[in-house]
Amino acid sequence: MIPVILCGGSGSRLWPLSRETYPKQFLPLVGDETMLQSTVRRLEGLPKLQPPILVCNEEHRFAAAEQLREVRHDAQSILLEPCARNTAPAIALAALAALESGEDPQLLVLPADHAVADVPAFQEAVLLASDLAAQGHLVTFGIVPTRAETGYGYIRRGEALAADVWKVAEFVEKPNIDTAEAYLSDGDHSWNSGMFLFRASRYLEELGHHRGDILAACQSAYECAARDLDFTRVNKEAFAACADESVDYAVMEPTESAAVVSLDAGWSDVGSWLGLWELAERDADDNLLQGDVLLEGSEGCLVRAESRLVSLLGVKDLVVVDTDDALLIAEKQRVQDVKKLVSSLKCSG
Ligand code: GDD
Ligand code: MG
Repeated sequence: MIPVILCGGSGSRLWPLSRETYPKQFLPLVGDETMLQSTVRRLEGLPKLQPPILVCNEEHRFAAAEQLREVRHDAQSILLEPCARNTAPAIALAALAALESGEDPQLLVLPADHAVADVPAFQEAVLLASDLAAQGHLVTFGIVPTRAETGYGYIRRGEALAADVWKVAEFVEKPNIDTAEAYLSDGDHSWNSGMFLFRASRYLEELGHHRGDILAACQSAYECAARDLDFTRVNKEAFAACADESVDYAVMEPTESAAVVSLDAGWSDVGSWLGLWELAERDADDNLLQGDVLLEGSEGCLVRAESRLVSLLGVKDLVVVDTDDALLIAEKQRVQDVKKLVSSLKCSG
């Protein structure tokens, strides 16, 4: 089994800490290690595990290589994208690289920016998924939904294949709020965790079947790739011509070969400051304090001080993130909109 670690996202909802030049997967948001490093560590002890393939943007190659080297001492394989084309092409590149060995390994696709509290439970689900992947299924890991989240994919469980394993009856990526609410209340749906397990050849077959254009673009970008030590740089022109599409829309929605394994392992995609606050251990007043922070009579806050003292007095449910060149103060329940702030920043140059 080869872990394929996706680290090409921009993580803009965790601004001002997460930046385009240094997005959240390369930061220690939960604990001492970076999210990328925790993703790699979480796999330790799994049987028949081969070295991971990382897929990231060219711009982040040094952070990726250095952080990977700190947690793995074997050969590195880092695929560099000249531009972001989303996850369907990123996984296709990894599958093409994996097949070069002459074998057809299983690929465990992992976003580099998720947190998992219960590692043994996660590994157990991976082993269960591996049996299904061996039979040709494209396996997803399903989470019990707790809110009508429109940023996730939803999986309707179909025929049971074994304990905790079902065929996917329907996969719907990012539904609107009414649909998400209906899915939440019907009890038949799981969230898609965004982690997948399948044989490399099966992914490429399904991609070719449903999005032959993406497969063809990735094949030419990979065929003309340049090797440079541990890095493989895919061809710029060919990759730029590839459609921008996620694996969820390109393959998981249309495929008829998907299966879902339930995952109850304290999973979180740490998508926002609220997500981080919910996940982390907090003090008696429900505050999450990181760095040099002085707090009095305040509750439910997340305060992160990067380089100077930050103090709060008599406030509730605020997010305060102070970095060297930007300060964010937000109502905790409004932090999804940080993404909008960041895009207006981009527009204003
Ligand atoms: N290499 C590479 N290139 N990685 C990428 C790219 C890219 O162009 N775009 C995104 N990624 C990485 C991100 O860094 C992240 O680790 C992962 O791929 C998933 O991308 P997101 O952009 O975070 O996807 P999402 O959160 O909107 O949705 C996915 O995850 C949800 C759960 O967190 C989907 O799979 C949903 O169905 C799922 O519910
Ligand atoms: Mg995500």
